[in-house]
Amino acid sequence: MTILPAKTADAQRIADIFNQYLGIATMVLEPRPAADYQAIIEAENCAVFVAKEAAEETVGFAYVKPYSDRGGYVLAGEITIFLAPGYQGQRIGLHLYDELLPTAHQLGYRHLTAKIWANNGASIRFHEGFGFRMVGTQVGIGFVGRKRIDTVIMERVW
Ligand SMILES: CC(C)(COP(=O)(O)OP(=O)(O)OC[C@H]1O[C@@H](n2cnc3c(N)ncnc32)[C@H](O)[C@@H]1OP(=O)(O)O)[C@@H](O)C(=O)NCCC(=O)NCCS
Repeated sequence: MTILPAKTADAQRIADIFNQYLGIATMVLEPRPAADYQAIIEAENCAVFVAKEAAEETVGFAYVKPYSDRGGYVLAGEITIFLAPGYQGQRIGLHLYDELLPTAHQLGYRHLTAKIWANNGASIRFHEGFGFRMVGTQVGIGFVGRKRIDTVIMERVW
């Protein structure tokens, strides 16, 4: 398993992984095009890492992007991580964040936000392990498959 900065050519596979979680671990319900990830990969204030298997197959990704385009949020980033189904629980996420978090700090971010479905205990515990603390629960903020969904906000501050 290798962790590498993402290249433009990785955008399609990143989209393919993310689009398997629509309405399951993200409020995004329509498939995202590769172009969305190409833009993030090429943006100067973003950092994207991919986890690749020996055969060069991308099995996960993580990135930081600005939390907001409002100037006062210049220190704030939002992070995201998704592994392809079948690759969880093998410390791949851990290796991705080991690269991503120092890079986010180098980019100037001093506050990171993660938005997580409240039923996603694995992701909540994963983020706790990296020093994220629970800010709170947004009760019933989501509406997916005719059900109200709670999300939690977690943050890490340097
Ligand atoms: C959440 C996710 C990124 C974690 O990555 P991962 O590679 O599976 O996690 P790791 O194997 O690196 O685990 C690191 C630590 O996280 C915690 N953790 C991970 N999975 C867990 C689980 N199912 N239950 C409890 N704790 C868990 C543990 O503390 C673990 O350390 P340990 O192995 O010493 O106990 C990954 O499972 C994933 O992509 N899930 C599906 C998509 C998703 O939910 N993305 C996040 C959206 S907010």
